[in-house]
Amino acid sequence: MSISYAPAKAILFGEHAVVYGEPAIAIPIHSVETQASFVSYDNSDQNGFKIISPNINMNTSFENIPIEHPLKKLCLLLQDIIQFKHFPEKALVINSTIPIASGLGSSAASSVAVIKAFSEEYNANLTTQGISDIAFEIERIYHGHPSGIDNTVVSYNQPVYFKKGSPFSKIDLHHQLNLIIAYTGIHSKTSDSVEEVRKHFDEYKEFIHDIGLITDEGKSALLDNNIQNLGNLMYKNHMLLQKIDVSCSELDRLVEAAIAHGAVGAKLTGSGRGGNIIALSPSKEKNAEIADALLNAGAKFVLC
Ligand code: PMV
Repeated sequence: MSISYAPAKAILFGEHAVVYGEPAIAIPIHSVETQASFVSYDNSDQNGFKIISPNINMNTSFENIPIEHPLKKLCLLLQDIIQFKHFPEKALVINSTIPIASGLGSSAASSVAVIKAFSEEYNANLTTQGISDIAFEIERIYHGHPSGIDNTVVSYNQPVYFKKGSPFSKIDLHHQLNLIIAYTGIHSKTSDSVEEVRKHFDEYKEFIHDIGLITDEGKSALLDNNIQNLGNLMYKNHMLLQKIDVSCSELDRLVEAAIAHGAVGAKLTGSGRGGNIIALSPSKEKNAEIADALLNAGAKFVLC
């Protein structure tokens, strides 16, 4: 049995603005992940294709999964693309340590891990771009009008500079970033916050453009490994996200706590109004102090 993996993701710069054609930068996060595998039944009274996904309380035979469920849609889409006649007489087991609805790309990771598992099971040799394109179709069911950044970074498993409608570019990082992720414990729906920004687009236009400029500066700081500048830009990006009203007091508290305890920068990551922040630590040695401060400031968990 082989297991397929997909990482989580964090947006380093440019969330929301990316929906309007501004650039964004996202990176894979490996401390949490989704796994998918086809498991044969060891008991002869089990048969048919079923999906077991404890994170969403699913242990259901395929025919009993509602047709509108994104996982069902994904499997049917894959049947169409890979062109196999029957689903295997096996269980598709999906396990994930990525918190859902928190801006860490859990839906994209689930799709990518499942697509890879099917590709492996049927020797389909799907390309990485093929995997990303299929995951994008499912992201549209979860999120309405996604930019495509989540499926891209999770499929390629590499930092990406992404602009909707243009080919993305991979960013080769020569130094590891000491990023700390802290979770507010608040679930938020990407499509809701994207919709709220859309309603006020005329009012937010300038801020959205400024986020794009910061992303470009952030790309240079990343390539130069200028950690101080990178941190400053992350914080500036956070202040602009406050202006487009996608932050909240819990996120702001975590950002301020990280900076007060030595992070060179911090910002919310993903769609906001809950979910996570990312903080940039100046060195590995400083991670524990920043992580403690985040827990004291209300983080429900911290990933280093
Ligand atoms: O799904 P999240 O919370 O990781 O947010 C995705 C980033 C947005 O820019 C808010 C939406 C998008 O489609 O790019």
